[in-house]
Amino acid sequence: MLKVGVLVSGGGTNLQAILDAIDEGRVTNAAVEVVISNNPGAFALKRAGNHKIPAVCVSPKSFESREAFNQALLETVDSYGLDLIVLAGFLVKVPEMMIEKYRNRIINIHPSLIPSFCGVGYYGLKVHEAALKRGVKLTGATVHFVDEGMDSGPILLQKAVEVLPGDTPEILQRRVMEEAEWQLLPQAIDMIANGRVS
Ligand code: GAR
Repeated sequence: MLKVGVLVSGGGTNLQAILDAIDEGRVTNAAVEVVISNNPGAFALKRAGNHKIPAVCVSPKSFESREAFNQALLETVDSYGLDLIVLAGFLVKVPEMMIEKYRNRIINIHPSLIPSFCGVGYYGLKVHEAALKRGVKLTGATVHFVDEGMDSGPILLQKAVEVLPGDTPEILQRRVMEEAEWQLLPQAIDMIANGRVS
């Protein structure tokens, strides 16, 4: 059984998609052991609580330095003996020592077709604002392994989503979530849990 930790910062709809997929048997051989947020107000923590999954907040604001926060985050992750860390809307830079320790065991979902609209400054709605501004006709989502760069690790899964006339960033964000993100992230976990990733 793959022990999964999900790191979140906000609403947690991707977390919900993972929990639903496990409950419905679309993801097998995996269990979410803990949900960790940097943001005490993240609704994702509530979703974890509703599912009787430990919900932990490690906020940078509670620490005197970034190093101390990074250390605490790593210690929290370590304490659950995780096989896979899933960044599901986690908007904090993952500490390098964590990336090193969990190499090829951290995945991230990004709401565009990488390498478009990714890297520093591209997160959440900003990604969709940029896609609309550029006038692309197709966008989508990407699941990738996390390395030291920003959105630069090996790509595991991608799915394209159409941009439609009249789209606002919010409408496009919702379509990308529904048609791509909420499918891709559970699918990636299922692949890893069942040894279908080489
Ligand atoms: C998702 O759209 C996710 O792809 C994005 O944040 C949102 C979180 O929503 N992540 C990034 O932009 C990472 N660069 P959620 O909390 O409802 O899952």
